[in-house]
Amino acid sequence: MIEPVSPAEEPSAAVPVVRAVNLVKIYQTGGLPVPAVRGVDLRVEPGEFVAVMGPSGSGKSTLVHMLGGLDTRTSGEIWVDGERADTLTESGWAILRRRKIGFVFQFFNLVANMTVADNVELPALLGGSSPRHARERREYLLGELGLSGKADASPAQLSGGEQQRVALARALANQPRLLLADEPTGNLDSRNTRDVLRLLGEVHRQGQTIVMVTHDARVAALADRLITLLDGEIADDGAIASPRRPKPDPDHGPGKVIELRG
Ligand SMILES: Nc1ncnc2c1ncn2[C@@H]1O[C@H](COP(=O)(O)OP(=O)(O)OP(=O)(O)O)[C@@H](O)[C@H]1O
Ligand SMILES: [Mg+2]
Repeated sequence: MIEPVSPAEEPSAAVPVVRAVNLVKIYQTGGLPVPAVRGVDLRVEPGEFVAVMGPSGSGKSTLVHMLGGLDTRTSGEIWVDGERADTLTESGWAILRRRKIGFVFQFFNLVANMTVADNVELPALLGGSSPRHARERREYLLGELGLSGKADASPAQLSGGEQQRVALARALANQPRLLLADEPTGNLDSRNTRDVLRLLGEVHRQGQTIVMVTHDARVAALADRLITLLDGEIADDGAIASPRRPKPDPDHGPGKVIELRG
């Protein structure tokens, strides 16, 4: 039986996984201020999958880096899972990330002198998982991404696309409260993109909250919500049609009718 959900029980009262209030980043390089993020207000609820799109230079990486504490803000507030985070020190952020945030960078940042397996297991071990649990999670993630055979390789022995998938496995190792991903399919061919999207879809269905920067509309279509940045500001923010809704059948759907009429 399906339980009715009364409006009072909607998750509006839930603590957002991440929240930004009037977030601003102005880079100062060579004396010239470069405003990269200009007053972003954002609230991501538990279980949401948010895609961030926008032209090159619009501030997407800067925004997600700030949400993960990898770049300092100029002004504004950041809250992670109900905790004020923008006032944390660098080591405070490091602890928060270890506990709650997985990050896939635009460039992968794997530890060069560790094997693929160790790269993926490390965050889980640092987060307090048992070695057995860390290993099982690593085997699952690498298997889903078609990388089981590369567990003992070092990152330098992998292609760019393989490194990118290892970075995704590492970010998910800890089952983090929040997954931040900056173009996780940017270097992948279509088959590997499909593997990454399948895994993202799967962890999302398991409740994973995701904020993902992408240039690819097909990748964004996996999300529930699309934010468009323009010149460091949110130009658009709205729900997108569920990818889980069955696609119209081209032989029987309205498209065919229109085609026949045309
Ligand atoms: N370390 C930095 N120092 C100075 N300016 C920077 C720095 N990093 C980024 N910027 C500037 O901030 C703006 C936003 O950059 P950002 O990397 O966030 O864009 P983006 O939307 O991620 O672009 P892309 O799609 O190309 O990755 C750009 O004008 C960029 O030149
Ligand atoms: Mg970027």
